[in-house]
Amino acid sequence: MALEQSKIAAVAAEYAGKDPSDIIALAIKEYGGNIAISFSGAEDVGLVDMAHKVGGKFQVFSLDTGRLHPETYQFLDKVREKYGVAIDTYFPYPEAVQKLVHEKGLYSFYKDGHKECCGVRKVEPLVRALKPLKAWITGQRRDQSPGTRAEVPVVQVDPTFGSAERLLVKFNPLANWTSKQVWQYIRENQVPYNSLHDRGFVSIGCEPCTRPTNPGEHERAGRWWWEEETQKECGLHAGNVK
Ligand code: ADX
Ligand code: SF4
Repeated sequence: MALEQSKIAAVAAEYAGKDPSDIIALAIKEYGGNIAISFSGAEDVGLVDMAHKVGGKFQVFSLDTGRLHPETYQFLDKVREKYGVAIDTYFPYPEAVQKLVHEKGLYSFYKDGHKECCGVRKVEPLVRALKPLKAWITGQRRDQSPGTRAEVPVVQVDPTFGSAERLLVKFNPLANWTSKQVWQYIRENQVPYNSLHDRGFVSIGCEPCTRPTNPGEHERAGRWWWEEETQKECGLHAGNVK
């Protein structure tokens, strides 16, 4: 199985209005055994619940930057236990972190931007996580960022981590769901969630780079808040930035 590259845009159009579970079912049918959910430990937990219900062979991985909140670590383990699924953790190369911290300290991102630290702690480990896979599943949604995610399709040829020699397919089953729909799903299905969400955190990333948002503020306002609004992609989804 596997989708033909030339048909992926048509499949994206066909599935745009479908339920995320149907998109996950398609993903696992086409790529079972070679596909993984990229799980951040936030409200993308809905993906794990849906895939668990769909069944079939899929993996789950998480990028442990070393800077996550204690609540996120506890939550990752809770999900592992509830769904009986291994969460493969990818860590950054120690030498790369050591070099960065030696040269610039632990909080360089507040001074010269998050790209360098995210590159070492998230993007390089993601490259390793994706290496054995033919497809991956993310929790990106269009409503998360009007600036960078407004055109995210439910399935696409990965513009960043795939290449002409190695086709990598990226599924974004929640692309057309709103935050409200995600939370309705979590509540209706009694899906466990990160306890930080009860304390005003909406979008959750690393501890030093995430803060709660005030009512009325956009969720990305709680991420890298000291930086320019339009630049809020860390490199995992760099293809979104035009
Ligand atoms: S980020 O690029 O700004 O950090 P965001 O937090 O919006 O991403 O999450 C979007 C999707 O990216 C998540 O649903 C998940 O699929 C993936 N992702 C983000 N952070 C991680 C992480 N630490 N580990 C695994 N996947 C992640
Ligand atoms: Fe580093 Fe912050 Fe990026 Fe985490 S979000 S990898 S702490 S810059």
